[in-house]
Amino acid sequence: MPRVLITGGAGFIGSHTIAALLEAGYDLVVIDSFVNSSELALQRVMEIASLDAKNTSNRLEVTRGDIREKSTLEKLFINAKRQGRPLDAVIHFAGLKSVRESVQYPLNYWDVNVNGTCCLLAMMQKYNCRSLIFSSSATIYGDVSAVPISESELISPINPYGNTKAAVEQILLDLSRSDADWKITSLRYFNPVGAHPSGRIGECPLGSPNNLFPLVSDVASGRKKILRVYGGDWPTPDKTCIRDYIHVMDLAEGHLAALNHLIAERTNFLVLNLGSGIGHSVLEVVNEFEKSTKTEIPYEIVDRRIGDTAITVADPQKAKKILGWETKKSLGNMCIDTWRWQKENPNGYASEHRQ
Ligand code: UD1
Repeated sequence: MPRVLITGGAGFIGSHTIAALLEAGYDLVVIDSFVNSSELALQRVMEIASLDAKNTSNRLEVTRGDIREKSTLEKLFINAKRQGRPLDAVIHFAGLKSVRESVQYPLNYWDVNVNGTCCLLAMMQKYNCRSLIFSSSATIYGDVSAVPISESELISPINPYGNTKAAVEQILLDLSRSDADWKITSLRYFNPVGAHPSGRIGECPLGSPNNLFPLVSDVASGRKKILRVYGGDWPTPDKTCIRDYIHVMDLAEGHLAALNHLIAERTNFLVLNLGSGIGHSVLEVVNEFEKSTKTEIPYEIVDRRIGDTAITVADPQKAKKILGWETKKSLGNMCIDTWRWQKENPNGYASEHRQ
């Protein structure tokens, strides 16, 4: 079975993807700096995958490190080669992801997201590992005039975080053109939410959350009194913003399908949307969360949030056609699984340390 390097594997999407890849039989090497994630996420992934201490070392090797540190990264490629099981491909999740923070600290975002990726690509080239899946984002489309959004839509990010993702995609395109041996797939995620149905792994944002689902579950648990709904005057049926929410389990399956395709086919450069193709408004999310989890979400409509757009919905047809992948989980599944994770881990992974 191929051996795959996962950067940023302890994060929200990385940890769920690792669980799916282990189940599919892949052998993995993970590097994570743990600056915005917890080692517990990986311990719990091992538990989900039923890996005992003995076979863990063969199937999942974990290194703490930053991809910008050349020596740390190089060691991974050298060790894998020495073990006689070189790295065949990389899934690159490592990066910073807060839009708000990226406006405050653009240099840090360019360094980690763009320079970090360049360091990784140089090392891949040196060790002749030329198959890559990159975590991109629908945020690079910016403020579009029509939905659903297909991959041919203009790239026009409106914040530093989006700029770094768009810049990396450009680098990847240039690299793929420089050498036909590169096989690169860039996955543009829409709004990833939900958690593993076991309740053992989920989203654990550092500091106070900005995204809708973590905030809704904070209100449901009473940790926050009220949800602020940003804008009640958008050009949508109920006047609140519409997004394409994708369950993280579906997203993990999307990575597995993309990896299988990357390894089997000779596609030099491929860009795919990963979304459901279905839009839900903020109020639909609130209503579904209340109904499916039997909680109450008091809310108030406040001013629009700067940088928001009315409607973002993916056209997921290309991924369906090329990968044979499509989302399966409903909005109800997303709410139930988010709520289970929140209830069983009120302080995320920090809950365990407090016991
Ligand atoms: C945000 C990021 C996007 C990133 C994505 C990851 C911005 C501008 N965009 O997208 O780059 O890829 O997260 O998931 O930050 N909402 C409320 N009240 C709240 C929080 C959110 O009404 O307290 C609304 C927002 O106005 C939006 C929807 O809920 O319409 C979803 O918001 P959010 O979860 O933050 O995601 P996006 O803004 O779509």
